[in-house]
Amino acid sequence: MKTEVAIIGGGPSGLLLSQLLNKAGVATVVLERATREHVLSRIRAGVLEAGTVAMLREAGVGDRMAREGIPHHGCYLTDDDLMVRINFEELTGTSVMVYGQTEVTTDLYAAQDAMGATIIHDVEDVVIQDADSSAPYVEYTVSGKRKRLDCAYVAGCDGFHGISRKTIPEDKRREFERVYPFGWLGVLSRTRPAHEELIYANSANGFALASMRNENLSRYYVQVPLTDKVEEWSDARFWTTLKSCLPTEVAASMETGPSIEKSIAPLRSFVSEPLRWGRLFLVGDAAHIVPPTGAKGLNLAVSDVHYLYQALIDAVKTGDTKGIDAYSERALLRIWKAMRFSWQMTTMLHRFDGEDSFAAQMRKATLYHLSQSETARRDLAENYIGLPF
Ligand code: FAD
Ligand code: DHB
Repeated sequence: MKTEVAIIGGGPSGLLLSQLLNKAGVATVVLERATREHVLSRIRAGVLEAGTVAMLREAGVGDRMAREGIPHHGCYLTDDDLMVRINFEELTGTSVMVYGQTEVTTDLYAAQDAMGATIIHDVEDVVIQDADSSAPYVEYTVSGKRKRLDCAYVAGCDGFHGISRKTIPEDKRREFERVYPFGWLGVLSRTRPAHEELIYANSANGFALASMRNENLSRYYVQVPLTDKVEEWSDARFWTTLKSCLPTEVAASMETGPSIEKSIAPLRSFVSEPLRWGRLFLVGDAAHIVPPTGAKGLNLAVSDVHYLYQALIDAVKTGDTKGIDAYSERALLRIWKAMRFSWQMTTMLHRFDGEDSFAAQMRKATLYHLSQSETARRDLAENYIGLPF
C-alpha cells in the first residue's frame, strides 16, 4: 500500500491530523493498535480551549460540539473554604468549552468515515523504517499478515507508550521529565455536577477536581498515592474523600451515586526534543505529557496538529518544506509554556507526601494572593484558556 502521510495512532491527534489533511486532498492511512471501541472507552480530557474548538470547526467536526458542548466562562480554585473565581470572560474576553475527549474522538471517527478515510485498527508490531531517508515506509501486522505501507511522511501520533518516539535514535533526542509522587483517581457518575463551574480544590486533605460532562454526568478526581489500586477505592470511600477536599458548602449540597467508571492515572511532565527526525514528526502525547491539572494535554496535542498540518500540505503539494523545517521549534515554544503552567498548577494545588509545613503555607498564600490580585488571576486565566497558537 502507498499513501502520502502514514499516521501512527488513531487517538485525537492522529484523527484530527488525518481529517485536516484529507480535507485538503492529502492522502493518509491511520494505523491504530486498539479497536475503535477501546479508543472510545477511554475517559480522559474534558476542557477544550477556544483554539481547539476553532481547529475542530475547521476540520468540519464542530456541529455536535456547538449543540452539546457547554461553554464555561470561569472556574474556581479553592483553598479549604476560600473560593477564588477566575472569570475567563472578564479577564481574557474568551471562554473554554466542556466537551469530553470521547465525544471529540467519536466526531472525528464519524467525519473520517464520511470522507472514506483509511483507518486500520488492531494493527500490531508497527515499525517505522528509513524515516531519515527520502523514502520511508511502515511495516505492521494485521490479521496475522505482515504489511508494508510506503509514504512520503510519517506522523507519530501514538501517545506516550507508542513506538514513534523510540524510532528516533537515542543520541538524536533529549528527554526532560518530572514524575510526581501521586496520581489522580477519576470517577464518572450519573449525578448532577457539584457546581455549575469546575472547582480545582487545594485542601488539608489533598487535591480534588470537580468537573462534568453534562447536567447529569459528573467527572471527579482526587489525588491518591501512586501505590493505590482502583479496587481499594469503594464508591463510599471516594465520595467521603472528595467531600473532605471540597469547600464545605459545595460538599454539603452535592449529589452522589454509583460510579460508572473509575481509574487511576499517574502524573508526569515529559518532553522529548526535537519533534522531528528526517521524515518522522512527533505529535501530541508521543512527544510530551503534562500533568492534567490545567487541562492542557489534549489541547497541546491539537496545537501540535495546528503547526504541522499546513506544513505537511505545503510539503506534499508544492514541495515547500519551510513549514515542516520550522515545525519542531514552533511547536516546542508553546509546549514549554504549557509545561510550565501545568507544573505550576500541580505544585500550587497538591499535597506532596513528606512535605514540610512551609510548603502547605506557600500553597495557601498563592491561593490567597489569587483571591486578592486581579493581575494574578489574569495571568492564570490567560494560560488556562490557552495561549495563542
Ligand atoms: P493518545 O490519546 O494517547 O492516542 C494515541 C493512540 O495511539 C491511541 O489510540 C493508542 O492506542 C495508539 N497507539 C499507541 N501505540 C501504538 C502503536 N505502537 N501502533 C499503533 N497505534 C498505537 N488530558 C487532559 O487535558 N485532561 C485529563 O483529564 C486527562 N486525563 C488523562 C488520563 C489518562 C489515563 C491519560 C493517559 C491521559 C489523560 N489526559 C488528559 C491527556 C489527554 O488525554 C492526552 O493528552 C490526549 O489523549 C493526547 O492525544 P494523542 O492522540 O496525542 O494520544
Ligand atoms: C477534566 C480533566 C482535567 O484534567 C481538567 O483540568 C479539567 C477537567 C475533566 O476530565 O473533566
